[in-house]
Amino acid sequence: MASKSSTSPAFLFSMILALVVGINGGGIAIYWGQNGNEGTLAEACASGNYKFVNLAFLNVFGNGQTPMINVAGHCDPSSGGCTGLSSEIKSCQARGVKVMLSIGGGVGLLSPSAEDARYVATYLWDNFLGGQSSSRPLGDAVLDGIDFVIATGTNQHWDDLARYLSAYSISGKKVYLAAAPQCPYPDAWVGGALQTGLYDYVWVQFYGNPPCEYSSGNMGNLEDAWNQWTSIPAGEIFLGLPASADASSGFIPASNLTSIVLPTIKGSAKYGGVMLWSRYYDGQTRYSSTIKGSV
Ligand SMILES: *[C@@H]1O[C@H](CO)[C@@H](O)[C@H](O)[C@H]1NC(C)=O
Repeated sequence: MASKSSTSPAFLFSMILALVVGINGGGIAIYWGQNGNEGTLAEACASGNYKFVNLAFLNVFGNGQTPMINVAGHCDPSSGGCTGLSSEIKSCQARGVKVMLSIGGGVGLLSPSAEDARYVATYLWDNFLGGQSSSRPLGDAVLDGIDFVIATGTNQHWDDLARYLSAYSISGKKVYLAAAPQCPYPDAWVGGALQTGLYDYVWVQFYGNPPCEYSSGNMGNLEDAWNQWTSIPAGEIFLGLPASADASSGFIPASNLTSIVLPTIKGSAKYGGVMLWSRYYDGQTRYSSTIKGSV
């Protein structure tokens, strides 16, 4: 009887369904760069757990300042010490992992002028994307796009920056745009920019924001916010979570995520997967390895 049931139409159907769901499944995006003890970028990509790695952060820009990256203890950009990341970025891309540069991360002050947005866009294109510069902080690797992580300063002209950046797409390789808004909808900083329809990936921070976090088995607040986020004119929406309870409030135990939360949100047409803060915490908990098969 066992062999009969294993070839039944119902079994075949469930196999096909599993395949289809697998093909349409989401991916995991991870933040790398803010902890020198999180291992290398190449190791992160070699884990096979991530579809996106966001390099965190380009935290100095705006008001005419020369933009500067900060990747904690990994390397010193001020002395050109981060150009070695180029080969690691290329190794990630060779594995099909998109590598984005995250701008902001706590500072993110941009002077309120469209001209300044144009200067920043040009700088990013020349120094991290498909343009040319003698001072590329990460060497000659061409990043896949720019991720907006803005939670301070002004809400002005992020839309201009998005337009200037996405206009470079027509010169060759596409410049992907991403953002990590806070989950209370609409986002106070990049909410306006997100309405441009130019963003490919929006990883919403369902952490550090108790009003829309999942807590004590209660899905209601998270689901309400998720439904608002999946209605914006953007490509794919991701559920942003801490990879450890030590990282932030909003941590969801893996079993609750896979049995309760993901089944509820995965049906959304714009579901893209899960974003995690951060590679360091993921290294502590192995959260991505545990949830990967369910994302
Ligand atoms: C996980 O799910 C269980 C069962 O629904 C619930 O009692 C528990 O509070 C949930 N944990 C969290 C952190 O929400």
